[in-house]
Amino acid sequence: MRLSARLGSVAALAGTGESVIDVGTDHGYLPAYFALTGSFSRIAASDVRELPLAGARQTARSLGVEDRISFYLSDGLAGVPEIFETVVIAGMGGETMAGILSACPWIASARLVLQPQSKLRELSACLEALDFGYEDACITQDGGKLYPAFSARRGAEEWDMVRALILRRDPLLGRWAGMLADRRERALEGLRGGADAASERAGEQEARLGAELRALRDIVKETEKW
Ligand SMILES: C[S@@+](CC[C@H](N)C(=O)[O-])C[C@H]1O[C@@H](n2cnc3c(N)ncnc32)[C@H](O)[C@@H]1O
Repeated sequence: MRLSARLGSVAALAGTGESVIDVGTDHGYLPAYFALTGSFSRIAASDVRELPLAGARQTARSLGVEDRISFYLSDGLAGVPEIFETVVIAGMGGETMAGILSACPWIASARLVLQPQSKLRELSACLEALDFGYEDACITQDGGKLYPAFSARRGAEEWDMVRALILRRDPLLGRWAGMLADRRERALEGLRGGADAASERAGEQEARLGAELRALRDIVKETEKW
């Protein structure tokens, strides 16, 4: 079984271990891959919707690994009756991930492998509140898009995902930071040309975007030295 580059990067960060759950599994490729490669002894897949969960079961059945995986219909980890060593969540917005992690009573003991599609700031704030540090991080190109992913756990020393990417000298960090900087620049232009450009709220937003833009341009400059 061949995973896409994006899911491959998530599987690589997950590595091997005793138990793993893929939350929001949808097609179920990751749990099937874990079962086929024998990288975890206990494997589960969950989804909040019945149809994707049935699809995940079908994927596992067609690959002959259905009996190796537990399937749970659950909002996040709330309806999952087991505890897992590794929790994988990929392809979801960062704020949804933050909600799932914050609501789970045993999350502090887990190792997380996350591939957020958006709202990295909200997810980072949640991880900081939960006292998680970054273990490893990478950016993957898949179908012309760039996907950051990382592993995190309590006790890991790195407190910033971008610093984890810098330490690793990720070859796509400069491009990713440049793309985010361009987005901030466009948002700033929109804000300055907007009807309420003079409001206090717009001023605060402008200050935040400006600071983020400078930090991102600094990252681009840093990667140019590599
Ligand atoms: C875009 S798909 C990502 C599928 C797969 N993880 C991947 O990365 O390719 C998002 C999946 O997450 C599920 N989902 C969304 N919110 C969820 C939640 N709170 N708990 C569990 N699953 C959720 C959706 O039903 C959907 O199947």
